Amino acid sequence: MSLLDIDPGIMQDRNLNIYLIGFMACGKTTVGKALAEKLRWGFVDLDEQIEKVEGKRIRDIFEESGESYFRDLERKILHEISQEKGYVISLGGGTFCFEENIKCVEKSGISFWLKCPLTEVYNRLKFHCDRPLAKDFKTLKDLYYKRLSYYGKADFSIENFNKPVIKCVEEIFFVLKLRGYV
Ligand code: S3P
Repeated sequence: MSLLDIDPGIMQDRNLNIYLIGFMACGKTTVGKALAEKLRWGFVDLDEQIEKVEGKRIRDIFEESGESYFRDLERKILHEISQEKGYVISLGGGTFCFEENIKCVEKSGISFWLKCPLTEVYNRLKFHCDRPLAKDFKTLKDLYYKRLSYYGKADFSIENFNKPVIKCVEEIFFVLKLRGYV
């Protein structure tokens, strides 16, 4: 797979990527796009890349080939993307819940966990039936709590709840500046 069709922005020479992680519907894609724009870095959405490579919607990959097939693809494509640098990359909600993927992220950049309460996630997902793992509240709740310890391994965490996208982006930007990444 090639990322050459994605505009890397003017910061292509950067030696790291910025990964956004967190539960489904926590705002990874929305914040990621806005952050990339502010930094003038390229933006990659991992799910979108998986769909492009497979030529299928995520939902159909799950339905036709099962979750473990999806996780294999996710791992491979993350690995390929991580070879590039200078991108803001939004991961899927489950990507950062596998040790191999965590290592890959740690080796190739820094990670921000976008935190969002379960009730808010549920409200955001209620009317969207395209997430194969968001079947009902109980399933979502179990998954949410199971994943917190993985998400807690991110380098930084930012609340993304009850605030405009730009505020979240500014907070990430502030951390990046403070730590000398930009
Ligand atoms: C998943 C989250 C989805 C997508 C897939 C699996 C998960 O991404 O990768 O449906 O395991 O939580 P979003 O977090 O962007 O919804």
